[in-house]
Amino acid sequence: MCIKSILRIPYLASLTATVLIIAGVVSVALGQSPSPQSSDVGKFNGPGACAASSCHGGVQPKNTTRILQNEFSIWAAQDKHARAYTVLSNPVSLRMGRMLQPPVEQPNKSPKCLACHVLFVPENLRATTFKLDDGVSCENCHGPAAGWLGYHTTNDWQYETAVNKLGMYDARDLVKRTEQCLTCHVGTADKQVDHEMIAAGHPDLTFELDSFSAAMPRHWKTNRENNTPWFGVQEWAVGQAVQLNKSLQRVSRRALSSSWPEYAELDCFACHHSLTAPADSWRLTTTEYYQGRRAGVPAWNASRYVVFRYFAEVVDPKAAGQMEKELDHLALQFAKWDRPNEISSTALSAASTVDQLAQQIRTQRYDPDLTARIMLKIVGNGETIANSGERAAEQATMAIDSLFIAYTANTKLPNEAELRAAIKTLFSQLQNPSAYNAVQFRAQLLKVQALLPHSSQGANGLR
Ligand code: HEC
Ligand code: HEC
Ligand code: HEC
Ligand code: HEC
Repeated sequence: MCIKSILRIPYLASLTATVLIIAGVVSVALGQSPSPQSSDVGKFNGPGACAASSCHGGVQPKNTTRILQNEFSIWAAQDKHARAYTVLSNPVSLRMGRMLQPPVEQPNKSPKCLACHVLFVPENLRATTFKLDDGVSCENCHGPAAGWLGYHTTNDWQYETAVNKLGMYDARDLVKRTEQCLTCHVGTADKQVDHEMIAAGHPDLTFELDSFSAAMPRHWKTNRENNTPWFGVQEWAVGQAVQLNKSLQRVSRRALSSSWPEYAELDCFACHHSLTAPADSWRLTTTEYYQGRRAGVPAWNASRYVVFRYFAEVVDPKAAGQMEKELDHLALQFAKWDRPNEISSTALSAASTVDQLAQQIRTQRYDPDLTARIMLKIVGNGETIANSGERAAEQATMAIDSLFIAYTANTKLPNEAELRAAIKTLFSQLQNPSAYNAVQFRAQLLKVQALLPHSSQGANGLR
C-alpha cells in the first residue's frame, strides 16, 4: 500500500508552523488545556487539529509506539470518508438531488445528505477550527475532541477518563464501534437512505464490520485490541449481531411510517433480477423458494440474519432458538405486508433478543476449533443461504472471507492457496447481482466446504 505524499494533503499546507511542532504545542496553539476541562466537553474541532506530523499526521507508521501516528495521513489519502463531502457535488449526487421529491437542489447544503456525509453537528458545538467540508472525519467516530484534545497528549492520560468524562467515544468497544458505523451505514430515525434515494442512484447500504474496516483501511493496530489473534472472528461476529439489531430497529420504525412498504427492506433482487426461460430460473426450480409467500410477493431482506443465525446457534443455542422463532414469524408477516403494526412489534422484540446475543458475543472466546465450526456450519447450510438471495450470498462470502483470514493468520493450512482461490470465485459470482444464480453459488460453496479443515473427518461437532 502506498501512502501518497503528505505534501499533497491540503490540511498540512493550511496549518500554521506552530501547530506542526509537538503535541504539547498543538494543544496550546489550539487553546486547549492539557488537563481535563469540562467547559469544552462536547465540542468538535475538526480533523485539522489531529494533522500534525508529530500527532497523527506521520507519513510512515511508527512501530515503536502503540499508536501508529499516521492515522490522519491514512484517512486523508486512502479513506473514502475524507471525500464524503466532495461526492455530494459530483454528477451522481446532483442528478440524485434533481430526481428526489421534493428535489434537493444542492446536496452539499442539504441536511438530508450532510447528515451522513460530514460531521453534521449543531452550530453551537462547532469550535472555530471546524469546517463542514472535511467530510466524515476523526470526531465522527472518536467523539467531540475539544474536551480531551489537550488532555490526550499528556503522558498520564487515561482512556477511561477521556471516555467517561471528556466526551471521547468508546470506539474500542466493538458493540459501540459498530453502532457508530451503523448510524450512517444503516441509518437512524433522523437520517436514512430509502429506496427512493437508491432508485435515484445512491448505493444500497450493506455492511460487515471486519471487511469494511479492512476496506477503510484501518488506521489502528488490531492485535492490541484484545490480545487475541482471533480478533477478526470476534469483529465479524459482533458486527453481525449489531447490524442485525439495528436493521430490525429500522424495519420497526419504517413499518409505521407513511412510506411503507419500504422497498429497501425487501429482497432487492426479488424485483431486480434478470428474467430467463422458466426452466432456467433457479427461483422457479427451487421447491421452497416461495415458502410461506404467495408466488410473486417479494420477501423480507433477511441477509443480515441468514448467515449470523448459524453463528448464534454455535455460541448460544437457547437465545438463537428464540431469535429464530421471532424472525421466522417476521418473515411470514412480511409476506402479508398489510399489517405493518405487527411487523413493527415483532421486529422490535427480535431486536432485543439479538441485543442480548450481541452482549454475549462481545465476551466470547474464539479459537481454531470454534472458527472452523462456524465456517463449516455456514457452508453446510449453503443451500438455505444461497436460496435467500444475492444479499445473503454476499454476507456469506464476506463472512467466510473474514473467518478464513483469521484462521490462516493463526493456523497453517496445506491447501491455503486453493481455498483462497475458491473464496475468490464466490466473490466473482456476485459481480453482477441481478444475474445471481443460487444453484451456482451453492455449488461453489460445496467446493469451499470440501477444502475447509476437518470437513473430511465428518466436521467435528457440526450438528
Ligand atoms: C443514512 C446515511 C446517508 C445519507 C442520509 C446519505 N448518504 Fe450517501 N452514502 C452513505 C454511505 C454509508 C455511503 C457509502 C455506501 C457504501 O459504499 O457502502 C454513501 C455513498 C454515497 C455516494 C457514493 C459515493 C462514491 O464514492 O461513489 C453518493 C454519490 C452519495 N452517497 C450521495 C448522497 C446524497 C446526494 C445524499 C442526499 C440526497 C446522501 N448521499 C445521503 C450514507 C448516507
Ligand atoms: C469511520 C470511523 C473513523 C474515523 C473517521 C477515524 N477513526 Fe480513528 N479509529 C476508528 C476505530 C474504529 C479505531 C479502533 C478503535 C480505537 O482504538 O479507538 C480507531 C483508532 C484510532 C487510533 C488508535 C487508538 C488506540 O488507542 O490505539 C487513533 C490514534 C485514531 N483512530 C486517530 C484518528 C484520527 C486522527 C482520525 C482523523 C484523521 C481518525 N482516527 C478518524 C475509527 C475512525
Ligand atoms: C458519519 C457517517 C459515517 C460513519 C459514522 C461511518 N461511515 Fe463509512 N461511510 C460514510 C459515507 C458517507 C461513505 C461514502 C463516502 C464516499 O464514498 O465518498 C462511507 C464509506 C465507507 C466505506 C467505503 C465503501 C466503498 O464503497 O468503498 C467503508 C469501507 C466504510 N465507510 C466503513 C466504515 C466503518 C468500518 C465505520 C465505523 C468504524 C464507518 N464507515 C463509519 C459514512 C459514515
Ligand atoms: C418491490 C419491488 C422492489 C424492490 C424489493 C426493490 N426495488 Fe428497486 N426498483 C423497483 C422499481 C419498480 C423501480 C423503478 C424501475 C423503473 O421504473 O425502471 C426500482 C428502481 C431501482 C433502481 C433504479 C433503476 C435502475 O435500474 O438503475 C435501483 C438502482 C434500485 N431500484 C435498486 C434497488 C435495491 C438496491 C433494492 C434493495 C435494497 C431494491 N431496489 C428493492 C422495485 C423494487
